[in-house]
Amino acid sequence: QFNDYGTNCFLLLMCCCVHLTVELLNKKKLLVLTVATEETDGFDRFMQSAKYFNYNVKVLGMGDAWKGGDVGRSIGGGQKVRLLKQAMEELADQEDLVILTVDSYDLIFAGGPEEILKKFQQANHKVIFAAEGLVWPDKRLADKYPSVRSGKRYLNSGGIIGYAPYMNRIVSQWDLHDNDDDQLFYSKIYVDPLQRVTFLGPILYEVLLKFGTDRVRVRNTAYDSLPVVVHGNGNTKMYLNYLGNYVPNAWNYEHGCSHCDEDNVDLSELRELPNVLIGIFIEQPTPFLPEFFHRLLTMDYPRDKLRLFIHNNEVYHEKHIQSFWEANRNTFSSFKVVGPEENLSQGEARNMGMDLCRQDATCDYYFSIDADVMLTNRQTLKLLIEQNRKIIGPLVTRHGKLWSNFWGALSLDGYYARSEDYVDIVQRKRVGVWNIPFMAHVYLIQGATLRNELKERNHFVLEKLDPDMAFCRNVRELGVFMYITNRHEFGRLISTANYNISHYNNDLWQIFENPVDWKEKYIHQNYTQIFTHNYMEEPCPDVFWFPVLTEKACDELVEEMEHYGSWSGGKHEDKRISGGYETVPTDDIHMKQIGYEKEWLHFLREFISPVTLKVFSGYYTKGYAVMNFVVKYTPERQAYLRPHHDSSTFTINIALNHKNTDFQGGGCRFHRYNCSIESPRKGWSFMHPGRLTHLHEGLPTTNGTRYIAVSFVDP
Ligand SMILES: *[C@@H]1O[C@H](CO)[C@@H](O)[C@H](O)[C@H]1NC(C)=O
Ligand SMILES: *[C@@H]1O[C@H](CO)[C@@H](O)[C@H](O)[C@H]1NC(C)=O
Ligand SMILES: *[C@@H]1O[C@H](CO)[C@@H](O)[C@H](O)[C@H]1NC(C)=O
Ligand SMILES: *[C@@H]1O[C@H](CO)[C@@H](O)[C@H](O)[C@H]1NC(C)=O
Ligand SMILES: *[C@@H]1O[C@H](CO)[C@@H](O)[C@H](O)[C@H]1NC(C)=O
Repeated sequence: QFNDYGTNCFLLLMCCCVHLTVELLNKKKLLVLTVATEETDGFDRFMQSAKYFNYNVKVLGMGDAWKGGDVGRSIGGGQKVRLLKQAMEELADQEDLVILTVDSYDLIFAGGPEEILKKFQQANHKVIFAAEGLVWPDKRLADKYPSVRSGKRYLNSGGIIGYAPYMNRIVSQWDLHDNDDDQLFYSKIYVDPLQRVTFLGPILYEVLLKFGTDRVRVRNTAYDSLPVVVHGNGNTKMYLNYLGNYVPNAWNYEHGCSHCDEDNVDLSELRELPNVLIGIFIEQPTPFLPEFFHRLLTMDYPRDKLRLFIHNNEVYHEKHIQSFWEANRNTFSSFKVVGPEENLSQGEARNMGMDLCRQDATCDYYFSIDADVMLTNRQTLKLLIEQNRKIIGPLVTRHGKLWSNFWGALSLDGYYARSEDYVDIVQRKRVGVWNIPFMAHVYLIQGATLRNELKERNHFVLEKLDPDMAFCRNVRELGVFMYITNRHEFGRLISTANYNISHYNNDLWQIFENPVDWKEKYIHQNYTQIFTHNYMEEPCPDVFWFPVLTEKACDELVEEMEHYGSWSGGKHEDKRISGGYETVPTDDIHMKQIGYEKEWLHFLREFISPVTLKVFSGYYTKGYAVMNFVVKYTPERQAYLRPHHDSSTFTINIALNHKNTDFQGGGCRFHRYNCSIESPRKGWSFMHPGRLTHLHEGLPTTNGTRYIAVSFVDP
């Protein structure tokens, strides 16, 4: 896989040991010299790994302006050689000193200084350069390179190791400009046979992580060796970020994450919690939006520390935002909505939200969340802030799927690629805080980061990339690390696909696409207790009574029917059924008429069948029903139903509204047992045999309107 990165280099210093030369190691000292003008995330990572192994590191040029050109994209780097030359002048005569010069932004130590010294001495050269497979920057030098039997042929200036006097001899030749190319300079020395000082160490194109008990090593599969220094640049930087999640001691199987609690913010120590601007993005019709807002409101964070920016791109959602705004406009510190009439592109809207935080020095954090993220963890915001990263997202996944809000790796063209650890992270088999190349949907950014590294104002619009890809690419190129944490369960991503908004209450139809959210919204809170606590009643023999739908489900179903409006009128002639004649007609609307039959049958299978199995043990229902309908009883139209049998093996009858508040009277009487149930409960269902034993009648509704949902199951 790693080979895909092709020519640009991923190199390892000295990972093969050929000759074993016994030397007195204790006489030699190692000094690491690195040029870094800024404390980037990569630099911090480098220093952490150096500290872990007790390297002696000298940083050159910190705080200086970088004049070495844009080395990521073109030539440059001369400034590094100049600084090195200066530093070497005073070290030149220390014969026992071994100098290792490396880039620090994209390098991790995977082993200690003793190991490096040992390998260097075994190699038995004065100076060794790292190698790569590509001649850069001057292709014309290619022919001048000596051929190699194995490993990579060309020089890479990202890592050099050598005895101080010899190193000095090389860098002292520098007399060029800061933006001239360092690699070209070294290459010219190297290809000159008179000056050549070394052979090129093999470089690594295939690596595996090797998990030890204390630390993780990278194993070079091509050379079967354990490199001490791991360096990535160009495209391989992303791969280095992946390795950095493990090497040298970031994560392993035994101890899990070792750095997850380092540098954390202790919120209990703060006088007050930081100010957070929440940017909410509703870019397409999204199911369960009222529930999304509700979760936001129930997040454990003081409202007066929260400011809201909402971009809504959908006319359909204006009513939801309106009611959320009316109820909460004064509870947040500020509340701004940009609606569809502004015709903002998604990228522009995301820029705008981010800018609101960037331009306000009191904005400590920017929390961007899309409406398809259901945060079930009320502590999410606090947990993310505590983690103290410039950019960090909580892992959210599509229920039961491997789909999530991050990528573990990038393909060559910058799109999704699956990393070796992706599935383990999604499934929380490896738990930690992970440096990753792409995230979307929900993340927290420090306000200071927006005002420094990300001070550029237009991160979401780049070429034809979608806004999230544009943003992540910009962040990657700025060398800012993005993290995803899966240390806790945070929530899930809902699906916005196939969301048909042409019904009245569209979420009712989401039983297939978003079953977890559907269940949470529409299935009674105590439904599961039927199975765990036998939470049900038997008011008449073989008539079972149990909670199944929420009030919301009942209300929306009634609304949907009234919105449709064509009640049958309770006539015997009925074109909707086969035969066209109903002996005991009700005033009703069939589920099929509102396009809800498929969904309702699924509801029967998922939520009614298990109850059947429990109460009529040994009977396995097919969970099939032809007659599924909502009945309306009113004194003015049809108030009661005469005694009858149902054409079903068993019948379910769910009360959809409240006795005494919505109607008076009502209920059901079973003749054989002289047993009546006169106080139906909203959301509760009866389940009783349809034929033979259970002749029943609908008792008169004396006032108001009563609604019930009925299915004749297994006709
Ligand atoms: C909205 O913007 C797009 C391009 O950004 C443009 O093509 C379209 O005509 C605009 N619509 C309205 C109603 O202004
Ligand atoms: C959306 O629902 C309406 C009303 O039931 C229906 O006519 C239409 O075909 C549905 N659209 C899709 C794409 O399923
Ligand atoms: C569920 O049951 C508990 C007690 O068993 C009760 O307090 C609660 O109100 C019930 N929930 C609903 C929605 O009826
Ligand atoms: C039916 O029950 C009612 C009271 O619950 C009682 O008054 C009546 O006599 C009973 N009828 C029969 C036929 O048992
Ligand atoms: C019927 O219900 C309405 C309100 O729903 C109430 O005003 C009225 O008094 C009720 N009538 C009787 C006879 O209970």
